[in-house]
Parts: sequence; C-alpha cells; structure tokens
Amino acid sequence: MDLKTTDDAVMRRIQAFGERVSTLQANDLYFYNQPVQEILPGMKVRVHGREMGMYASYSYLGLVNHPRINAAAKAAIDKFGTGTHGVRTLAGTLTIHAELEETIAHFKHAEAAITYSSGYATNLSVVSTLMGRGDYVFSDKLNHASIVDGCLMSGAEFRRFKHNDLAHLETLLKNAPADAAKLVIADAVFSMDGDIIDLPKMVELCKEHHAWLMIDEAHSVGVLGKTGRGIEEHFGLGDVIDIKMGTLSKTIPSVGGYVAAKKEIITYLRHASRAYIFSAALPPAQAAAANEAFKVILDEPWRIERLNENTRLFISGLKSMGFDTMLTETAIVPILCGEDEKAFAMTREAQRNDVFVLPVVSPAVPEGLARLRATVTAGHEASEIERAMEVIGKAGKKLGII
Ligand SMILES: Cc1ncc(COP(=O)(O)O)c(C=O)c1O
Repeated sequence: MDLKTTDDAVMRRIQAFGERVSTLQANDLYFYNQPVQEILPGMKVRVHGREMGMYASYSYLGLVNHPRINAAAKAAIDKFGTGTHGVRTLAGTLTIHAELEETIAHFKHAEAAITYSSGYATNLSVVSTLMGRGDYVFSDKLNHASIVDGCLMSGAEFRRFKHNDLAHLETLLKNAPADAAKLVIADAVFSMDGDIIDLPKMVELCKEHHAWLMIDEAHSVGVLGKTGRGIEEHFGLGDVIDIKMGTLSKTIPSVGGYVAAKKEIITYLRHASRAYIFSAALPPAQAAAANEAFKVILDEPWRIERLNENTRLFISGLKSMGFDTMLTETAIVPILCGEDEKAFAMTREAQRNDVFVLPVVSPAVPEGLARLRATVTAGHEASEIERAMEVIGKAGKKLGII
C-alpha cells in the first residue's frame, strides 16, 4: 500500500506530525532522540562529538556507571546470562529477582515487593488490577501518563482532582458513593514540575473516606528523605502508603518498576497483574544493578546531601536571575519559557554552549507553559552548575525570557 496517497484521518494525523518534526529539524530546533555517544565523568556526556554538561538526567544521585553497580551487573551476566527463561510466573524467576524484591521491601519499610519490567507497565498493570468497573479512582491532574493509562484501562470511574488541590480531592471523595471501593493516586514528586504532593493531608483524607492510597515514587526515591527512602521519610510519616510504587530507571540506574506493600497485596499482584504474568522477567544484569543501587544509596549518604546542596544552588541561582521555576522544591527544575518555540530556541542556545537540557512542550505540558525541564544531580560540581546557569541566563536574556 502506498501510504503517501492514503487520505484518511490516521494518515492526516501522521503527516501533520511529520511536517512539524521536519520544520523543527530544518530550523535546527529539534532536540529529541539525540544519541549520547559516551558517558563521561562528572555528569558529562559526549553528543555529536562534543562534551556537554548533562542537565536532563534522571540519575539524581549520579549512580549511572557507578563501579559497584556495574560490577554487580557484570557478575549477574556471568552467572545467569543476558536473559531469562521467560515470564516470572513460569521459568523466568531467578534468585536475583527474589533478592531485589527483598531489598526493595527492606528499603521501603514494607512487608514485600514485586518488580515489573518497566515503571510504565507497573502503573498500567497495578492500577488496572486493583480497580475495576464500579470502583472509583482519584488521580491528580498532573500525574504521569502511565497512571492515567492505568486508570483508563481499569474501567473504574475516573475522577481527576486539580493539581495538588486536596480540597478538590475531598469534594470528589465526598461525592462518590460511600460504599464504593476507592483508590487515590498521585506522583510523590511531579515529573514535569518538581513539586511535592501534600502527603499528610492526602493520608488523612484517605483514612476518612476509606480510600486506598497509591503513590508513584519515580522521582522521590533517592531524592526525598534524609536517607533517600522517599516521601514518607520526607514528611516523617512512617508506613502510611498502601501501594508504594517506584521505578528502577531513575535514581536507580537500571530499568523496571516495583510496588512495595503488605504481603497479601503482593501475592495478589503476582497472580493477577498481567504485566507480571504475561511479560518477560527483568534481565539478570538489570535486576542485579538495581539491587546493588539500593545498597549504594544507604552506604553513600553524602550523595543525598550533595543533591540537596546542588538543588538549592540551582533553583536559587535561576530565581535570582529572574527565571520562573514554578513550585519546584526538588532536583527537577522547570525553567518556564512560555510558547513552545521559545523553549526550543532556549534549548538551541544552551546546547550550542554545551549545556545539555531539553524542552518539554505541549501536549506534555499545557500550552503556554513550555519549559526547559532541567535537572541537577549529586554528580555535578558547584562550579559546573554555575557555568550552566550562566549559559541559561545569557540565553534567557537574548530571547527576552528574563
Ligand atoms: C512519575 C513517573 N512514573 C512512571 C514512569 C515510568 O517509568 P519507566 O520509565 O521506568 O517506565 C515515569 C518515567 O518517565 C515517571 O516519571
């Protein structure tokens, strides 16, 4: 079939997108999918042959390429090979999976844990396994796409509350039938804005309305709390979250997702969640890397202190130059640009000066709120952050953002 001559709605959508991408590429304003050629020390990367400071990384504690973690991954390959014998339920479970799940449960102060082969699959599968038709799920408007997709897939009544607006959540909870099963779900740290959910109030509301609470800790593990254990530690709340979800692809330099919870919940998920039953097990090297990374976090607490210092330096520096960094309190630092084109132009200026940041534009964020989504990590030196801010500041002035 000749796609070019097919004139249907799908093809029109595809072509419109293709044109947008081509126009951006023609104007040197397209920055997605750029291959990193090499990881260099000190949070630097080689891209297009040039050494750049990395300010778009999720490796908040700078654990990518950590020698202990690399060694654990290599040892797992020597022991188990590169793949498994299939899905976890059948022949795919290895001792390293069991070890990893035990490590996660211990790290999260939970009874047990289950892992999946991506964070996306975890949310999709866990929400749609726990909730079904006739149930009610309440989701923050800025929750990650994987949560939204899980809610939609569940078939439950889907209610979205205004971002971090717990008075609105309360109204929605009150309006739901008292006897319906309810799940409240939110990111701990919001992936585009860097702000933190009001967990204490959320816990209170869940108790009052007999709702389950699920929190996605993709951007809070290793980031929040004195020992990096996440949002419960940050608020000094103890074990208050029913379903503690997280990823193994951010602070933990691997791939995968997990849920830590009470034993009977984990047993249920092991036998009822489709991403566990019908998708291949985590590769041994990735499971071993993740397992070691949780231990490194506890053994190297200086990384969390350094991350906090770097975060303060970056946010306060950008603010003092006049940038709007929205409500961030964490290592995810939005630098508001306004229109999509402004964010693309800012990125071009930054990358031309060897600062690797990336733009986030609509529909990932609302129109008019396009931004650089910059991140700092424990791997950055203060002097490098100062230099990056200088570059971003010059670009902001040139483009009239500050
Ligand atoms: C809040 C949040 N949840 C879930 C995910 C999905 O995780 P993964 O990339 O490991 O599939 C992400 C990743 O982008 C995220 O930011």
